[in-house]
Amino acid sequence: MHELQGVFMPEEYPHSAQKACVIGWPIGHSRSPMIHGYWLRRYGIDGAYGKRAVQPEELEDFLLNLPREGLAGCNITVPHKEAAFRIVEQANPQGLTPLARALAAVNTVWLDEAGMLHADNTDVHGFMAHFAASVPAWRAAGQRVLVIGAGGAARAIVAGFMQAGVAHITIANRTEEKAHALAAELQQALDFRGNAKGAGLEALPQLLARADVLVNTTTLGMTGQPALDIDLAPLPDDAVVADIVYVPLKTALLQQAEARGAHTVDGLGMLLHQAVPGFERWFGVRPEVTGELRRLLEADIEQGH
Ligand code: ATR
Repeated sequence: MHELQGVFMPEEYPHSAQKACVIGWPIGHSRSPMIHGYWLRRYGIDGAYGKRAVQPEELEDFLLNLPREGLAGCNITVPHKEAAFRIVEQANPQGLTPLARALAAVNTVWLDEAGMLHADNTDVHGFMAHFAASVPAWRAAGQRVLVIGAGGAARAIVAGFMQAGVAHITIANRTEEKAHALAAELQQALDFRGNAKGAGLEALPQLLARADVLVNTTTLGMTGQPALDIDLAPLPDDAVVADIVYVPLKTALLQQAEARGAHTVDGLGMLLHQAVPGFERWFGVRPEVTGELRRLLEADIEQGH
């Protein structure tokens, strides 16, 4: 058995309990234990959810031996999402959802009754579920979506809009080639029938003028990171503006959007909603993202953790 770190308290682990955790390197201040801990209490489930620092070279051993740790599964965070995909693909090629395959990255792992590994990418569900809840009247048909950034978070969000069936997606990125490559890759992987293309950031003013939805998928604007320097003036009045950054809760981008009367979608909801499918797999209850849970996380963020 590996040495358990920090939050794995023995008293949290009665033998009968279902257990799960989040793994990353470093794991830092992950908010996943707070989310799952809230649901375990709310639904009176005899289970536990911890966090665990797993080094890249330990990842395969960890995932292939979840039962040894008494784990029903885990969440995967930076930098393991792509490596975890490859490990599950090797161990159980049937165990990946079509979306996980298209993205070649996973954030949620579970074992079936036979002990076989399965994995999904629930960031897509997380973003789209929160987006739909925040803008209930929004419909994908005919929409033009502008995504800033072409990293891991952009992959999930672009995939979500492609699946939803929007008409146009433009990925604008500092490194323009990465934007073209991502647009082409996901268009093919998801058999997207709309128009998908890449662009450089200098094209933003023209792109904004034609966008119905704008999403920042970079960490720009996060506390401690450079600002996202963007003027929303060209954006149509009824556009929707979303940010995946949730520290601060209301980013400068969202403030600017709100000041123009645009609909806004914050980053915290994505974090909350991406946790739903994993909890259901491990603990057997589809949990609700409540206002109380959101306030718990908001308080934690405001305390500056
Ligand atoms: P993640 O997986 O969290 O999305 P990532 O893969 O490192 O993180 O992607 C970060 C994104 O933010 C990239 O699109 C990156 O642009 P490049 O592809 O040109 O690197 C973008 N990004 C990071 N810092 C930036 C900056 N200072 N200005 C503009 N874009 C930036």
